[in-house]
Amino acid sequence: MCGIVGYTGRQDAAPLLLEGLRKLEYRGYDSAGIAVENDGRLRMVKASGHIDRLEEKTHGGADLPGCCGIGHTRWATHGAPTDVNAHPHMSNDGKFAIVHNGIIENYSALREELRGKGFVFQSETDTEVIVHLLDMYYQGDLKEAVMRTAARLEGSYALGVVCADVPGTLCAIKMASPLILGVGIGENYFASDVTALVSHTKNVIYLEDGEFAELTPESITVYDVAGRPVSHSISRIVWDVEAAEKGGYDHFMLKEIMEQPRAMKAAIEPRIRSGRIVLDDFDDAFKVCFDDVHRIVITACGSAYHAGCVGRTMIEALCRTPVEVDVASELRYRDPIIDDHTLLIAVSQSGETADTIAAIREGKNRGAKVLAIVNVVGSTIAKLSDYVLYTWAGPEIAVATTKGYTTQIAVLSLLAVWMADRRGLLTPERYSELTGGILDLPERTQRAIDLNPQVAYLAERYRDNTSLFFIGRNLDYAVCLEASLKLKEISYIHSEAYAADELKHGTIALIDEGRLVVALACCEALFDKTMSNIKEVKARGAKVLAVTHEGGRRVFAEADDVLFVPVTDPLLAAIPEIVPLQLFAYYVARANGCDIDKPRNLAKSVTVE
Ligand code: AGP
Repeated sequence: MCGIVGYTGRQDAAPLLLEGLRKLEYRGYDSAGIAVENDGRLRMVKASGHIDRLEEKTHGGADLPGCCGIGHTRWATHGAPTDVNAHPHMSNDGKFAIVHNGIIENYSALREELRGKGFVFQSETDTEVIVHLLDMYYQGDLKEAVMRTAARLEGSYALGVVCADVPGTLCAIKMASPLILGVGIGENYFASDVTALVSHTKNVIYLEDGEFAELTPESITVYDVAGRPVSHSISRIVWDVEAAEKGGYDHFMLKEIMEQPRAMKAAIEPRIRSGRIVLDDFDDAFKVCFDDVHRIVITACGSAYHAGCVGRTMIEALCRTPVEVDVASELRYRDPIIDDHTLLIAVSQSGETADTIAAIREGKNRGAKVLAIVNVVGSTIAKLSDYVLYTWAGPEIAVATTKGYTTQIAVLSLLAVWMADRRGLLTPERYSELTGGILDLPERTQRAIDLNPQVAYLAERYRDNTSLFFIGRNLDYAVCLEASLKLKEISYIHSEAYAADELKHGTIALIDEGRLVVALACCEALFDKTMSNIKEVKARGAKVLAVTHEGGRRVFAEADDVLFVPVTDPLLAAIPEIVPLQLFAYYVARANGCDIDKPRNLAKSVTVE
């Protein structure tokens, strides 16, 4: 929900911090700030709004000389996005400054305690209690103060600390929020994720929960919660800085839509060897686990949940194992029926979504084995799960996920076929047909992307709609969920996904003259039924934009506009079907002048409940 960054080395820190914050802006962008240590003194500047304002206020960082500092870009949880509530937060004596991503659950009690001891609070944030605790516990030993402070905190935190008494030294502390160390030569970094580091170093250290690190220009020392040094291997980032740049596109979202064929290949091709699906290096171990599975629960949030809905349709159709899909924030609180015969599949692009993490913990406590489908390597969900299938989509910067979602579905389709085969439910011909269809997905996706000009034209035609419906049946309905969210989150236009036949049970009352209904009709077996639903809304004055496969020409008789998508197997229709609807949302939002990559109120990773 927020992004933190820190630098210590021989270069001026402020410009590097501002550059790092720009790379982290997709994590939250309602205010930002930096603090730099120089000659035993801390200077701090904060600004509400985008990073541009902070850049202006600090004259590109020139106003804050020094080679050691911290920075923060915020998605407000406690307190409005104002300069005062922006991070960093500074101790009353100006000796400490901190940046924080997460939520301190016990901040109210700590606030009262600290106020009672004479500490003066400037902001409304939960974070500020941390800097006063550091001040209270500091007796000249920074490490000791950090340990004692961390011992008082309940909740989630990725913390960065700079202290005027210890020039050139930073502290980074991790508990349940993402935090990575960047290892340089004569300089070291910390950041919320690798996108802020990759242009300076590809050598990173992933901290574990409870650990903290001391960084100087020449060294990084990691300690466990008891203050004992622990050694960490250095991991290598596998993608290049260009992957985290716009690459000539106007928006990251458009770039990431266009990248989907390549991302699909990366997710699929390493897992189909000589015509057989192999689930990475845990294939054999997973066979033993899966043979004992009677029920599957898929849990996720947002678009990842929508991918899970597509996954349920595919897995149940092929594997005949009961599959339940639930948003993580509901699953974790409804005393779920999960036992050691349950496989919990957690789907997440960032691997840091707080509710999904909590649902995984709940599932494990009840005996489930957990398989994670996740994009970010080394993320909390990846580390928490028994088995991990990475989607290999590469960094996804736009807040609205596209390649993150479609690669999740690609991996779920591999899993569905693997499971059905494991249960002996596929003939060799059907197995080959499905693996062939999955291998074709990158090419089908490219052909769906090639609808781009037609979609741009339709978006221009329909951009003024203030409320619209996406209707479909079975797999089409699952895709409607995602199409509706895409439009809402980047164009701020209300839309609703509805099971096509359910519309007549009340909601059809909202269909009036000119109301746009996007009808998804790629499910061949239900095509005629969906056609009937199209007629029902047309009869009440709706405008219908139909999305169907190249064989669905009959829809021309009813729809006002049609997009023909390249569908192979009906069970694999979701990806070619969603791509034009991603583009539709993109072009409507662009026509309406919306901030596509950083939509209002949103952040890329919801790391708080
Ligand atoms: C989708 O465009 C949104 N960014 C949001 O719904 C997202 O899918 C959801 O927050 C889950 O995030 P995750 O996949 O990183 O867990």
